[in-house]
Amino acid sequence: MKIGIPKEIKNNEYRIGITPNAAQRLISNGHEVCVENNAGVGSGFSNHDFLKVGATIASYPKQVYQYAEMIIKVKEPLPEEFELIKEGQLIYTFFHFASSLSLTKAMIDCKAVCLAYETITDDHGGLPLLTPMSEVAGRLASQQGAKFLESPQGGLGVLMGSVSGVSPADVMILGGGVVGTQAALVAAGMGADVTIYDNNPNQIEELQAIMPKNVTTCLSSSDAIEKHLTKAHLVIGAVLVPGAKAPKLINRKQLCVMQKGAVLVDVAVDQGGCFETTKATTHENPTYFVDDILHYAVANMPGAVPQTSTKALTNATIDYAVKLANLGWQNACKQFPHLANGLNIVNGHIVNHSVADAFSMSFTPLENILK
Ligand SMILES: NC(=O)c1ccc[n+]([C@@H]2O[C@H](COP(=O)([O-])OP(=O)(O)OC[C@H]3O[C@@H](n4cnc5c(N)ncnc54)[C@H](O)[C@@H]3O)[C@@H](O)[C@H]2O)c1
Repeated sequence: MKIGIPKEIKNNEYRIGITPNAAQRLISNGHEVCVENNAGVGSGFSNHDFLKVGATIASYPKQVYQYAEMIIKVKEPLPEEFELIKEGQLIYTFFHFASSLSLTKAMIDCKAVCLAYETITDDHGGLPLLTPMSEVAGRLASQQGAKFLESPQGGLGVLMGSVSGVSPADVMILGGGVVGTQAALVAAGMGADVTIYDNNPNQIEELQAIMPKNVTTCLSSSDAIEKHLTKAHLVIGAVLVPGAKAPKLINRKQLCVMQKGAVLVDVAVDQGGCFETTKATTHENPTYFVDDILHYAVANMPGAVPQTSTKALTNATIDYAVKLANLGWQNACKQFPHLANGLNIVNGHIVNHSVADAFSMSFTPLENILK
């Protein structure tokens, strides 16, 4: 199979779809890999690193898209890329469709096969291709939160950890999955007083068993969240209903009970955000204020640490990439139902229920496609 790796063009996105090691695995399985010029540089991989393992280099994105049967990317295609995608081309990347009607419509119109990392499942009810990026984003959420709590950044002026005679920061985490767990561990490690809210009692029980003493777990309810907001310095949004728009757990009216300069970090922004006042930001302009509350809502947080993130992502995506290349997407999805759960839009049809529901669009059962 001919496989294309374009350079990411989202703001300050330095990750690449595969490492040279992963390219070598595809090539040793009999496939061809074409990488866009300098696509790996931000992650520490030169053109030469890819050439050494047998890949070729293309000067322009158009060449990569024209050449490839399968595109391996990191982030969702942007409008500049929509017209490059060919009918029937397999696009293996993060999409997060529920947060963007324009992306959904564009992928329906171009009749691509959209295989979304974020809805591929595993035997344990997990999302194994989202997990490594959620680990990175969770850790960064507390780092960024700590930074933006500083007064010169516009924040309240509170240090995460306590010093003699002064209480630590109060950190509230909504959603205790992968992002929430990692955010809690970093915030707790910095010495903050952390509370995790989740609506799944089993998840709460598991977290309670593994978290350090300065982390409390709590079953989520709107009353409990509103009450806590009055004392929270940093709130991290980390909920997920796979494929769907994130539920809104904090509305604009509730911001007025918070302390001025408190910080909201919405990691769930890629699924539309779990605060009513969330709008996606970039690494270049990561924050904005609403009613004196500082919001951070960067949709590609792991892009800030590409050397870590590219390796972690590729470790998770490469096995299925090899299966897709060896078998073709139809046979691979028939053989591996967890992989098939990644199909969101195929040849103009939405095959993921949550995506169809998000925009009240029609849904086509996957069985009709994978006959
Ligand atoms: N911004 C970024 O750069 C970035 C990077 C990675 C992941 N993410 C996003 O972070 C979000 C969280 O990802 P994750 O991997 O931790 O997901 P996860 O599935 O591991 O965890 C989500 C948690 O939210 C809980 N939850 C769901 N609905 C809830 C509700 N109404 N109230 C309270 N808890 C609720 C679930 O029980 C679960 O424990 C996702 O939207 C993911 O796409 C964003």
